Amino acid sequence: RIWMAGSRHVQGICDVLAATMKRDHGLDVDPLTDFAICCGQSEAFAAAIFAVIDPGDEVLLFDPAYETYQTCIELARGVPVYVPLDPPSWTLHADKFLKSFTRRTKAVILNSPHNPTGKVFSRAELLIISQACQQMDCFAITDEVYEYITYDENKHISLASLPGMQERTIITSSLSKTYSVTGWRIGWACAAANIAAAIRNIHVKLTDSAPAPFQEAALVALTSTPDYYESLKKDYAERRDFILQLLKNYGFHISFKPQGSVFVFAELPKSWQISDIDFVTNLINNAGVAAVPGRGFFHTDADDQTYHHRYVRFAFCKSDETLKAAAQKMMKPVKSNRKNEHVTK
Ligand SMILES: Cc1ncc(COP(=O)(O)O)c(C=O)c1O
Repeated sequence: RIWMAGSRHVQGICDVLAATMKRDHGLDVDPLTDFAICCGQSEAFAAAIFAVIDPGDEVLLFDPAYETYQTCIELARGVPVYVPLDPPSWTLHADKFLKSFTRRTKAVILNSPHNPTGKVFSRAELLIISQACQQMDCFAITDEVYEYITYDENKHISLASLPGMQERTIITSSLSKTYSVTGWRIGWACAAANIAAAIRNIHVKLTDSAPAPFQEAALVALTSTPDYYESLKKDYAERRDFILQLLKNYGFHISFKPQGSVFVFAELPKSWQISDIDFVTNLINNAGVAAVPGRGFFHTDADDQTYHHRYVRFAFCKSDETLKAAAQKMMKPVKSNRKNEHVTK
């Protein structure tokens, strides 16, 4: 197989990705110039940040957020500025968002479908983001790793497909979630040719190249037929519903049903006198089941942060057997929370 000189990728992978961008988002991208093939979305994102963020530049992120973005921004000596999404549905509040821009704002980070909440940003919300990016002359850097994992009527829309956005958006994504191969480390950034060239330069310094055998495998995966993506959604929707029912049975009140991704961000029942950390510690110690305390995803200093300690993220990207076993094991420790229930009037 030929490596494309200077680009460090196997022949054909960018053509397949360009065809996918056209098919899924109507985007015309040049396979010869507009991609950097990296070691997962993680490296693509880091390289994108290093390519466009100068020291002192501000970068807007929505809170709660997946935790690696901030580190990359800080490594580039940029300044993360969080804009809270409003619970329970993690709504984008246009006013708060627009007020967060300053002369130093260089980029907006958008992760949709969203980790940890399972939110899929609506077209109306994307319009607010796209108009602000254009007015303030900012980049958008998207993380679309859960692009094919959406539920019910929710559809993933790539921000780059909105009018005026393609030239200022850096799309990052990967094989990891769509093909359940998180260890294979194949991802990409897709951007205007000059930005993609800068990202490739940084990629070569960071890791040199993504693993060639897995790039070959990517060529096969990326040409999967539509029924693959349909069954992916269907399987995950069943697992989501299983976990939601389980949590309801255990006393959780689910105020926001995940629209995409593989997570339920569940609020602890108001009557349980227990924090997210105590709940998760109890679950690990007494059931051998791991979840993530919600506070790890929050960064803002809102006046009322009490809800920051009231969420737990459950991941359902596991086999049916594992989910059923977890359900069994959780029964006892969760019941003990209910026993200690504080009676609210
Ligand atoms: C939102 C989000 N982005 C990126 C990643 C990492 O992706 P990759 O394996 O392609 O580096 C994860 C993994 O959990 C994630 O949840």
